[in-house]
Parts: sequence; structure tokens; C-alpha cells
Amino acid sequence: MSTFTWPTAGISYGGDYNPEQWPRPVWDEDVALMREAGVTLVSVGIFSWALLEPREDEYDFGWLDDVLDLLHRNGIAVDLGTPTASPPAWFYDAYPDSRVVTRDGTALGFGSRGMVSPSSVEYRAAATRIASALAERYATHPAVVLWHVHNEYGAPVGEDFSAQSVAAFREWLRGRYGSLDALNAAWGTAFWGQHYREWAHVGAPAATASTPNPAQQLDFARFTDHQLRACFIAERDAIRAHATQPITTNFMAHQSWNTDLWQWAREVDLVSDDHYLWSPDPEAHVALALSADLTRSVARGKPWVLMEHSTSAVNWQGHNIAKRPGEMHRNALTHLGRGADGILFFQWRASRSGAEKFHSAMLPHAGTGSRVFREVVELGHRIGALAEVAGSRVRADVAVLYDWESLWAQELEWRPSDALGFRERMRTYYERLWRDGVTVDFAHPEDDLSGYRLVVAPASYLVTAAAGKNLTDYVAQGGTLLVSCFAGVVDEHDAVHAGGFGAPLRDVLGTAVEEFLPVRAADVTTVDLDGTAIPTGVWAEQLVLDGAQVRGVYRGGPADGAAAITRNGHGTGTGWYVSTALGVEALAPVLAQVYADAGITPSGRPEGLEVVTRHGAEHDYLVAVNHRDEDVDLEVTGTELFSGEEAGGSYRIGGGGVAVFRTPVGGDH
Ligand code: GAL
Repeated sequence: MSTFTWPTAGISYGGDYNPEQWPRPVWDEDVALMREAGVTLVSVGIFSWALLEPREDEYDFGWLDDVLDLLHRNGIAVDLGTPTASPPAWFYDAYPDSRVVTRDGTALGFGSRGMVSPSSVEYRAAATRIASALAERYATHPAVVLWHVHNEYGAPVGEDFSAQSVAAFREWLRGRYGSLDALNAAWGTAFWGQHYREWAHVGAPAATASTPNPAQQLDFARFTDHQLRACFIAERDAIRAHATQPITTNFMAHQSWNTDLWQWAREVDLVSDDHYLWSPDPEAHVALALSADLTRSVARGKPWVLMEHSTSAVNWQGHNIAKRPGEMHRNALTHLGRGADGILFFQWRASRSGAEKFHSAMLPHAGTGSRVFREVVELGHRIGALAEVAGSRVRADVAVLYDWESLWAQELEWRPSDALGFRERMRTYYERLWRDGVTVDFAHPEDDLSGYRLVVAPASYLVTAAAGKNLTDYVAQGGTLLVSCFAGVVDEHDAVHAGGFGAPLRDVLGTAVEEFLPVRAADVTTVDLDGTAIPTGVWAEQLVLDGAQVRGVYRGGPADGAAAITRNGHGTGTGWYVSTALGVEALAPVLAQVYADAGITPSGRPEGLEVVTRHGAEHDYLVAVNHRDEDVDLEVTGTELFSGEEAGGSYRIGGGGVAVFRTPVGGDH
């Protein structure tokens, strides 16, 4: 049992600390500078397996004892890593069959980092052994307040086509389907003569002449997620046998591909997440907000830890853009505003050697005289001033549906158009809500949605019968549902619903889809919404109306003159359907009507002034981030916690600035 308390007092602040890359005297300087920066929590040992277990079953914990003691003497708490994301050379040498094999048959070797096969029996044994040895030794070490299992499961590799993995996949399929008849039916193997007569013939969807069976691929994605999670659970339980501190593993909500975080979040004591800005995106802070909301949502609203972000540029994108002055503060405060009670970075001190020497750090190569270090120290002091915010919660009236299974299915090959992506649609709808100042939770389509005024489904390609019923009941009981195109197309086996495209949503939307009509780039297509032409493109659908009112009509393109946007009364609620891929601007007038149905009031604040409220027992906290270059005035009454100033109705936030206000309970959100 974990005796759960938050790892540090107040909001935790710090980063990954890799002292093994530095001579001993540097450690003393590190902790002195950490104190100067207000660091309270560091993650240690994440990549230290080769040092901790230099030969199989021989351990050297001496250096780690020193590090932990030193940190503890300086009042810095430790999130202790298990080093299993990077097995040592001896492991690869002893167990070559544990290497990950890629889809095209290449076995991945030693000399980088990254997982070996999550299905390898030898890996599972070695990983749980080192986790157990660490837990036994440090269960009662006073510095250790949190366990950090592995690192970013599923990255840089998750899928594995090795012989061990294929055998495990077969076993997993036996458990799922029981019989080959059931598997053949689920996979639709009558198509292209893919019938299986022997379990021994069933394999992973490796390189094939044409596109592999999509249902098999979807199951392989589920299996990969399951195997990775089994590795986590094995390590977690090995730790729990000795230690009572909470246990986490760092997710990548926004970038996670191999992990269904709804399921993972149930297995951890506290949710933690890594997030990095995507350099080519000029509005990357919107994706950051999405990631933070998604992380809080998988944590079911509980406070979470931002385990990694960067102080400035990363090094692994093509063209790595450095953060501009103040940007790191805005990023950190956005995470905090959206529920993070820990703000950590990768990493404390920039590495001189290795693949990440050009990655920014809290203490950059340029040293303590640098802008980045000054901002790190300032942020540490600001975080220190926010202790009372810890534990407060974000509330939302709007839920956005997010389902990793639908993501896996929608991104398979041979769709009607690859211009219509899960993440692109998710981002577009999220950005509309973000610009309108509407705070959202994310939800699984089978969750209880009754607490939300509005549910938005930007990318619900895969909708199970249960999810269809859930959404239909939600609307029948008074909810407002907004569904974007290419929805409810397939079931859990990636098979088109009997009843046609959109069948599980037909009752609630009062419409179904006769044909998908991807649009040629040269075809100028608009939607006539109450006499105004809103631009669209890429995608159109031929709808079959079944009770819905037509709210928008296609002008131009393959569906010229036909219904594009519909609204349907169902029970005491309303179901909206947008059958085309509208952009952020084009969505504005549509959302305005949907908000009116749902009783949602957009914030009315200037675009680019991001404000989220965290609700506490005694106070609310308004976290404000100004992404604009110019000053803005925020309507607020309360105390600004960084300056101590009283805001009596209005407060000016400088261009690019941040502010946090203690306000009376019951303010807006
Ligand atoms: C993360 C990883 C860190 C570091 C970082 C660089 O994905 O967990 O170890 O590599 O990226 O941005």
C-alpha cells in the first residue's frame, strides 16, 4: 500500500538530475545552485542501470547512496528512477533474443537507449530484479519521496516483432478470442483469403506485400500497450513489496502513441507527464495546453506532476527553436494552471557529452550568468510563492472525447483521405475552445458524461455500440453533443458498422452518411451558415437526413447544395454534426450556436490571454498567462501572489507576462 502524500510541500520544482555524468566536486556546486533556484524535487538514476548493476546480479549502490545523502542534507527530495529504459551492454550480450525487432525485421542493438522487447522474459526478470534491489535499499531513505519507474514507456520504440513478441501476441489473442473462429470473424479474414486454421500461423502484422489486416494491426496496438503496461506493473509491484512511497511513470499525453493512458492512469499512484513544444508550430502553447488538460483528465482531475519540459530548445527536432525570454514561465504556468502541482525539467545540468549535449537545461553550458539560469531561479521563487495553490482543482463544463483506440484505428493505411488526421482534428477543435476561453476536460467515450453541458467529439472514427449508446443517452437526458466528420464509422474491430457509416450515432444526430467525398485541392468549397460563407476544404460527406435540421449547406465541391452541418433534437438535448473539416476560424460561428444550445458562455477575454481557475477549499486561484506582446487588462478582484499586489477589479498583465490571483471561492472558470 502506498501511504500517499504529495512528494513535497507546496508545488514541487526541479528536474532530472544525472550526477553520474559529472565528477564528485560538481555535485556540491549542483546542490548549492539547486538551493539558490528553489529546487525541491529531482529525478535521479533514470539512466543508471550500467552503473548500478555493472555485471549481472552485482550491484554498486555506493555512489547513489552519496547522491541521495547529499540531496537530503540539502533539503532536496528525490524521485528515484528505475533505470530500465536503458539496459546495460551485458544484457544485450547475454540476451540477444530480447532485442526489439522492427516491422521490417531489423534487430535493434546496443549503444543508444530504449527498451528491449517488452515481451522478453529475461528483460522482465532483470527489470524487476533491479527495481526490487533499489526498493529494498532505499525504501526508508528519507530523501526518496517518489518512485519513477522506467522512462516514457513506448518511446522511442514500443512495437516489437521479435519471436518472443509474436509468441506472446498469440497467447494474448487466445485470451481475447478463445477460438480461431472468433479471431477469424473479428479480423474479417474472409477478405483476401486470410483465414487462419492453426494458432501457429497467427503472427504480428509485420512487413507484408500490401497493407496488413487492419483489425490485426489494431489488436497489435492493444497488445503492445498491454505488454508495456505489464512491464510497468511488474516493476511497480516489485517496488511495492518493499516500499510505501507513491509510484509513477512519466507519460507523454500529447505524444503518446503506444499507450492508452486511460488505462495506465489507473495503475499509478500519481500521474506525471512530459511535454515538449513542437518547434514548427507557431502556436505550440495551444498544444501544450491540450496536453496539460489531457494529462489532468487521465488523472481524473487529481493534481499531477509535469515531470519534464525544457527550459529552452530541445535538440531532437530538425530545427530547434530556443524559447524567448519569459516563454518558459508562460509554459510552466500553463501547466500549473491546468492542474500540475509539480514543475520539473529535463534536465538540471546540460550534458557535455552524448546525444543530448545541445539540449537546454536548468543550468546551461553558459553557466549561472545566463538568461536561462536567471529565469530558472526566478521561476523557482515564483513557484515557491504558490504553495497554497497545491491541491486545488480545475473544473470544466465541456468534455472533449479522446480515445487512443480510435487514434490507432484512424491512423491505419488506406483511409478515404490521409488529410483527415486524429491529432489534427483534435487540435483544431481544442484550439477553437481555447481561443474562446472555454476550459475543457477530456473524456473517454464510455465515461459518465452527465456532469458536462457540452461534449465535443472531434475525432471519433471508432465508436463502439456501448459508446454510441452512452452518447445517445447523454443527449436524451439534456446534454449537447457536437460531432465532427468521419465519426462512428467502425466498431472495435475496425469493421464498418452494420447499418453504415455513423450508424451508432444516427439516432442522436438524426443523420447518417451515405458517402465520403474528399475534396480536390482546386475545388473551392464553402459552407453557407445563415447566409455567411465559411471556408472549408479537404473533406465533405453526402448525408442522409433522418430527422435533423439542416443548419449549413455546402456551396461548391462534390456535395454542392447538400447538407453540411446539422442539428437534431433528441430527448431533451441536442446533437450537432459537422460533416466537413472546418478550420479554427471557420468553427467560430458554428461553436457560437452550439454554446448557445449548451448554455456555455465564452470568456470574452482578449484572444491570447489564457486564464484558468483552480478551485481550492478556501480560495479560488486565477492563473493568467499573456501570450500577447502587448499588455492586457484582466478583470479580477483578489491578491496577485507574485507581487502581493491587490487587484480591485482590474489588473494589468505585461506583454508575455504571467500572474496568479487568490480570489474568493466561486469565481468563474
Ligand atoms: C524525453 C526523455 C528525456 C530526454 C528528453 C529530451 O523524451 O524522457 O530523457 O531525452 O526527452 O527532450
